[in-house]
Amino acid sequence: MAKDETAQALTIRDLQKSFGAVRVLTDISLSMVPGDFLVLLGPSGCGKSTLLNCIAGLETITSGQILIAGRDVTEIPPRDRDIAMVFQSYALYPTMTVGENITFGMRVRGTPKAIREERLAEVASILQIGPLIDRKPSQLSGGQRQRVAMGRALVRHPKLFLFDEPLSNLDAKLRVEMRAEIRRLHQTVDASIVYVTHDQIEAMTLATQIVVLRDGLVQQIGSPDEIYDSPANTFVAGFIGSPPMNLIPATVEQREDAAVLVFETEDTDGVTLDIGDRLPREKFAGSRSIVFGVRPEAIGLEGEKPFNLPADLVVSSTEKTGSDQFLISSLGGAGLIARLSAESRVNGGEAVRLSLDPAKAACFDPGDGSLIHSFTDR
Ligand SMILES: Nc1ncnc2c1ncn2[C@@H]1O[C@H](COP(=O)(O)OP(=O)(O)O)[C@@H](O)[C@H]1O
Ligand SMILES: [Mg+2]
Repeated sequence: MAKDETAQALTIRDLQKSFGAVRVLTDISLSMVPGDFLVLLGPSGCGKSTLLNCIAGLETITSGQILIAGRDVTEIPPRDRDIAMVFQSYALYPTMTVGENITFGMRVRGTPKAIREERLAEVASILQIGPLIDRKPSQLSGGQRQRVAMGRALVRHPKLFLFDEPLSNLDAKLRVEMRAEIRRLHQTVDASIVYVTHDQIEAMTLATQIVVLRDGLVQQIGSPDEIYDSPANTFVAGFIGSPPMNLIPATVEQREDAAVLVFETEDTDGVTLDIGDRLPREKFAGSRSIVFGVRPEAIGLEGEKPFNLPADLVVSSTEKTGSDQFLISSLGGAGLIARLSAESRVNGGEAVRLSLDPAKAACFDPGDGSLIHSFTDR
């Protein structure tokens, strides 16, 4: 055992899961400490819900091991795992009041009335739903129902909370409000949470750790900053950020004093960009093809960022969002999006000089997409 697993809120070891002959989760290993907010992030169908259901015990696993709070629960039924789950569909009992919905599980288990009322009052105060306790679900808004569903989980004081896309049925404005509420809740009750979403903004704003999944395989595990600054591969780079990282085919060429980046262009010999000594020789011996990844906010108009591109690029269009203006162009045969300030005066069809800041850039292998070099490496 590498770490003290009795101190972990959750440990998953070499988990495999197949439905019949179809493998949906491969070699999943991860762990989280108590108080972590672990987000399982990936596109639809990548296996997030299946993994959450395996943790809950709603799905059996094909092989591997699951420990919750240091206890091996691999063979233990869901009700004995000390977990509470919140689903996308809140599944409240329509004929029961809010209070009855929240205390239902305790009544089934025969918890004394005094304790039930104490727990209900505690949850109602945390979630600010006191005035709703005697209402029926049909008399609640979507956000209020979601809050009651969370109350039902909170009241159990479980070792682990499991959330499966709890906000995806809410409209955009409410989703932002509930996101803030879930973050506050996590800070208030110091809970250990595993949270499934396909929404990278939700993941970035809520998580202490993000697990990026693709086709049932872990792509990267890290804090939001680590995943944003040093994506492990082009899939993660293209999934995180809105708009995501630009991924531009390029060549690294060695010159006498330093390596340079060369981007192909249609009509010239290419655009050569010297970014100083930032391409270390040990990683870029000789010349090699790469995919150069650069965040939209690391690209500016000439002079705004440390390194100017020595050629004009044609602006295909611009998009204003109020606070920003996105400039859409192309470089090296790939689309390029820059995030400029809303005051920048640039129009579609114009030729512009751009500059970039390699601090939020990275080089990837064009074959398997893996990270070769991140400029935020220390
Ligand atoms: N009960 C099941 N039987 C067969 N295949 C399933 C079952 N549940 C999920 N799958 C398949 O497993 C894959 C992962 O599904 P899921 O975990 O629901 O993905 P996500 O939650 O990331 O959208 C999908 O290809 C899905 O079709
Ligand atoms: Mg799902």
